[in-house]
Amino acid sequence: MKIQRMKTNRIVNPLGFDLKTPVVSWTVEETAAKKQLWARVEVAADADFSTILFDTGESRTASSLGVPVEIALSPRTRYFWRVTVCGDNGERATSDTAWFETAKLDEPFAGQRISPCLPADTAPYMRRAFQVEGKVLSARAYFTGLGVYELYVNGEKAGDEYLAPGCTAYDRWIQYQTYDVTDLVKSGENVVGAVIGNGWAKGRFGFDGKAGCYETNEPGSPHNIFTDEYLLLGELHITTDRGETVVVTDERWQSAPAPLTFGSIYDGERYDARLEIENWASPTCTFDGWQPVKINTETRLGSLTARLSLPVKAKHILTPKVVQTPKNELVLDLGQNITGWLTFTADLPAGTELRLQFGELLQDDCFYRDNMRSALCEYRYISDGRKAFVRPIATFYGFRFVKFSGIDSFDGIADIEGWAMYSDLEQTGEIVTANEKVNRLYLNSVWSQRDNFLDVPTDCPQRDERMGWTGDAQAFCPTANYNMDCAAFYAKYSRDLLEEQKLADGKVPDVAPLMVSRRADEQHPMLSSGGGHCGWADAAAIVPWETYLATGNRATLENGYESMKLWADWIYRYDEAHGATRLWPGIEFHFADWLALDGPESGFNPESVMGGTDVTFLCSAYYYKSTMCVANAARALGKTADYAVYSRRADEIRDAIRREYYTPGGLCAAATQTGNAISLDFGLAPSFAREKITASLRALLKAANMHLKTGFLGTPSLCRALSDNGANKDAYTLFLNEDLPSWLYEVNMGATTIWERWNSVNPDGKISGIGMNSMNHYAYGAVFEWVYKNVCGLNPVAECPGYKRAVLRPQPDKRLGAAKAMVNTAAGYYESGWKYDGDAVVYTFTVPFDAEAEVILTGRDGETVRKTLCAGTHTITL
Ligand code: BGC
Repeated sequence: MKIQRMKTNRIVNPLGFDLKTPVVSWTVEETAAKKQLWARVEVAADADFSTILFDTGESRTASSLGVPVEIALSPRTRYFWRVTVCGDNGERATSDTAWFETAKLDEPFAGQRISPCLPADTAPYMRRAFQVEGKVLSARAYFTGLGVYELYVNGEKAGDEYLAPGCTAYDRWIQYQTYDVTDLVKSGENVVGAVIGNGWAKGRFGFDGKAGCYETNEPGSPHNIFTDEYLLLGELHITTDRGETVVVTDERWQSAPAPLTFGSIYDGERYDARLEIENWASPTCTFDGWQPVKINTETRLGSLTARLSLPVKAKHILTPKVVQTPKNELVLDLGQNITGWLTFTADLPAGTELRLQFGELLQDDCFYRDNMRSALCEYRYISDGRKAFVRPIATFYGFRFVKFSGIDSFDGIADIEGWAMYSDLEQTGEIVTANEKVNRLYLNSVWSQRDNFLDVPTDCPQRDERMGWTGDAQAFCPTANYNMDCAAFYAKYSRDLLEEQKLADGKVPDVAPLMVSRRADEQHPMLSSGGGHCGWADAAAIVPWETYLATGNRATLENGYESMKLWADWIYRYDEAHGATRLWPGIEFHFADWLALDGPESGFNPESVMGGTDVTFLCSAYYYKSTMCVANAARALGKTADYAVYSRRADEIRDAIRREYYTPGGLCAAATQTGNAISLDFGLAPSFAREKITASLRALLKAANMHLKTGFLGTPSLCRALSDNGANKDAYTLFLNEDLPSWLYEVNMGATTIWERWNSVNPDGKISGIGMNSMNHYAYGAVFEWVYKNVCGLNPVAECPGYKRAVLRPQPDKRLGAAKAMVNTAAGYYESGWKYDGDAVVYTFTVPFDAEAEVILTGRDGETVRKTLCAGTHTITL
């Protein structure tokens, strides 16, 4: 027996996170035991468990999905925990030691908010020298900064994360990070410092952009949406054998211009190595031009909060190849569309100005970047003649190809790497089938998740957007929760949503954080109006509920509950103010079935965006879905009064939709692929009508030559609706299509991520349009929810979330040959798959320790076969 995946609040050994009540969880592997007899969680003040603070004893109810550690936590303290599990066969194991460490909790910051005394928009180095007496036993830095900062101690960067403090609505809340700098602080003279770039808070970011300019340092617009000043705030606590030293940000710090002479998330960075201050963060620095700092009183900062964001790290390192282009450009190809940086060592003559441009695809075999809209997406580097490691600081790129100019060859450039950077998430799921193209499509969906999970769930990582678009997030969320353990990532996003809702009476904006000017002197009207769009705003209700289903983590739901309810209530009030019909009248603009192919401009107009499905229908469908999510959450959390209110409301909404949209004969008046698919998938259609609606959907598909026309809202439901309603074959037909429009079409066209549009690239290889066309949007990757749930058959159970119970119900099809999902769920490792052996289907299932699964299969004569499986691996041939 082996205990693994020890997590606190679904994070491995969280350092300095906002934990509230820590909840510890684990999985058990490599055991012949089936069920847990008891588990014992012990929490101690020390690694050898001599001072026990919490002990469940041999508990029959302690669940591996989460044991809340109900103790009073002290600030800046590490707690150690372990668990002993005893199985029903007497086997037992004690885990390794895991830990969680608190940040400052309620302890006020002694550090002050400081800003450099430098000309406006001059990115600074900030530093302070200090003495340490005695032997260093431990050191922690609690810091934050604006826009994006990197902390250094004695010339070394603290930690391996980038782009801190992450992206939030800084005027509402700003996260501080905790760094273990024990190994960096020395006895004697020390320097702590930070280099600060623009990031999300400063420089250009947000809607309606105008590109900046490296030559003139014109920042572009909108810029400085949160702050005009760079800002740093923090404390360094050092424990030595002689006591504690605390170094805080205050007027004793110094500042100087950093070599970052231009920068924004969209436009990229310019780094002039000639301006580097040698050893700027070390005691050996001899520079004498340091300027003072001042106390920052201007920036509107919200509450200073211990981090919720997972750190952003370089998660994969890719090595590029040189591409020969007809124009003889110096182009590199990573072979994969990623989000992050290109890094290299440069050994170039002083004054050489390198210009790197980033693009997602080639056109006519040459470098191409015209779909970035106003985003320059460049990196400029001016050499000081010394060999140097080169990487950006406060920006990131969405790219596969990089074009170098300013040099004649790659001589002098070495060790080139592509760093795929995203929030430090564990990949938990994998799908393998007998079809290589499907496998590539799966990988594309995982890559689009990686590339768009950089602190916020972004729409795309490359053009002038990169924001937490709600519609994209909710469409992909169930798939995302299979692919990765997203609980902590989404907990932070729920907070982003909630903070905006508090400004807008519960209404959810289109993007969170809402990236419009929020400075005191320039409050954008979108902060209180705007948003509230169906299928977008509903992310507030859908994301926490889906994440709870996947993880069984009650805290996920408790934390999301306020935001869920605020949103459902907002729609209800809107309905009340518009006739109390229990429909959500779509009388205002809605994105609706965005990018569907059946809209007024129809088909393949490369710039068309609106789908053809009735907007009031879609609004009402989401009104129902969000209200149901709140009802379900209320039930799960034992909020009986709320459950009564929201379930009654949901019934009323569903009845109203039925009255309005379903004919007595059983047709749906929202008679599109999306309308029919959502009718079935959301449980809106009355049961007598389901068969007819399935037939209507099939007829529409037939009329479209068995091709889809669905957009952002219809696509996640399309194959699910078919497979769940007796039309499994049709779902596979759509999924296995290889021509336009289909999922595999983009694989055939060489895609390495999921495209924004079905027709992002035309069959002749030409990009279809540049108004709004990214190669890296995960929404259509949502079809993998169907692959996990229907093709491979792994389904969570609402009454027992987190997969302690699962329904395994694969629906195979010979054309795919074989398929298997392998998922490290919260409850442990599941495998659910099948392969054809002649006409027989061989199913293989693995159920984790202490879990149970109901298998539902269809035999060769159409009969239903049901079995209950306990932990272990099982094969069934039908
Ligand atoms: C984004 C989206 C988003 C949409 C809203 C686009 O510009 O890239 O994916 O959901 O706008 O309509």
